[in-house]
Amino acid sequence: MQPYLIAPSILSADLARLGQDVENVINCGADLIHFDVMDNHYVPNLTFGAPICQSLRDYGINCPIDVHLMASPVERLITDFAKAGATSITFHPEASVHIDRTLQLIKDNGCQAGLVFNPATPLNYLDYVMDKVDIILLMSVNPGFGGQSFIPATFEKLKQVRQRIDASGLPIRLEVDGGVKVNNIAQIAKAGADMFVAGSAIFDQPDYRKVIDEMRAELAK
Ligand code: DX5
Ligand code: ZN
Repeated sequence: MQPYLIAPSILSADLARLGQDVENVINCGADLIHFDVMDNHYVPNLTFGAPICQSLRDYGINCPIDVHLMASPVERLITDFAKAGATSITFHPEASVHIDRTLQLIKDNGCQAGLVFNPATPLNYLDYVMDKVDIILLMSVNPGFGGQSFIPATFEKLKQVRQRIDASGLPIRLEVDGGVKVNNIAQIAKAGADMFVAGSAIFDQPDYRKVIDEMRAELAK
């Protein structure tokens, strides 16, 4: 297993002070930030585009930025986000007509590539592209909003993906997104995840360091 990564989702950050809030959460021990792109089409909500990612880079944010595209189509956004400083880009396979080509497009643009699975999306999209994914992201809520509850069926799905990753021998990250809290992160890690997105659990608390330390203490158990 690779070291655990904690990725606060800026969906729950103070958007009027985004640069400062991201700087703060990184100084409080986060490994990277998770950047949720919603288009009011693939998901029923609207968030931020590549100029906001570029603004964070211009502000001086130099941690990895994990871009989660909940948008369709994805191709144009990939080149925009790669230019704007994304480190990794993940997309939902249902949102792309040519999944293999889209993964390759992300890699050709110098970013790590990943597929995202909604709670009811089957894993067989992975069958022929394991060698092209750097990240497998399992949604543990239905995408579109922060602050939802973790769907327990995700535990079994995580175990299945962990087995597939281990069998492949490839250094693929297993990321989980939605409803991750201090009180369930240990169980989520035990099921196989090694990268944890947490929005409301971190940004809704006054002391980010305290929450992140508590999460790391749970992960060390
Ligand atoms: C949901 C987003 C998540 C969201 C998680 O569609 O993809 O990244 O910010 O929020 P929490 O951690 O509050 O469930
Ligand atoms: Zn997300």
